[in-house]
Amino acid sequence: MIGMLDLREAGRATAIALPDLVITDVDREAAIAEWRGRMVNEHVSARVFAQLIPQLMRAGLPADVQANVADMVAQELRHGRLCAGVVEALGGAAVIALPELADVPAHGDATPVEAVLRNVLAISCLEETVAVALLETGRQLSEPAPIRAVVTEILRDEIGHAKLGWQLARALLPGVERRTRERLSEYLVPAFRQLVERHWVPDELPLVGRRAVPAIGVDDAREASRLVLDVIGQVIVPGLEAYGLEARDALAEATM
Ligand SMILES: [Fe+2]
Ligand SMILES: [Fe+2]
Repeated sequence: MIGMLDLREAGRATAIALPDLVITDVDREAAIAEWRGRMVNEHVSARVFAQLIPQLMRAGLPADVQANVADMVAQELRHGRLCAGVVEALGGAAVIALPELADVPAHGDATPVEAVLRNVLAISCLEETVAVALLETGRQLSEPAPIRAVVTEILRDEIGHAKLGWQLARALLPGVERRTRERLSEYLVPAFRQLVERHWVPDELPLVGRRAVPAIGVDDAREASRLVLDVIGQVIVPGLEAYGLEARDALAEATM
């Protein structure tokens, strides 16, 4: 059964208010849809980090790493409530049917450490690193102080979520066997493909969806998609190459 995500009460409890916001009805509807989408994404992220914890335990990673990830679950749940608060402050209803949610892969074919590495590479080094760049743009665009405060708080936490992956990569990758590194490089191909598919808006497509709405901290979808490619090419790929992963080749294969 597909569940409902109902954060109406939790959203109102944040007491976020936008009394001085003057925007057109069209922008208001777009803003509500955008922040409701973010609300779902945050909720999904909480679920992802929650599923990561038993994997970290199985891999015998230090207790402070496990505890950090448990904190991240709480942070993502709070982000969901904050986004719900913005939806409600905009006059929308912070309730939506949840999409079918895939589990974090267990990677039964890999050792526990390799399984964790695959997942944190995809989650933290790719998704969360891109999220940090997008949020920073969103923060600069956000005009109303309450929205800027929400984006700033979320951004602060997402930096930590991205760092988790880079710290684990630094701690674990130098110690893994060459064959494991090769398999991790292969795993980057579907991971990059998913990342690009999620964020990329081809130039030749007419832009029907999101355009920049500074009053709600939303970047133009095409600008955002260019930023994502820059972050992948200039930050993520060199970062992973530095730890001996064939990230450049993986990206080329993913985007062929
Ligand atoms: Fe988040
Ligand atoms: Fe996050």
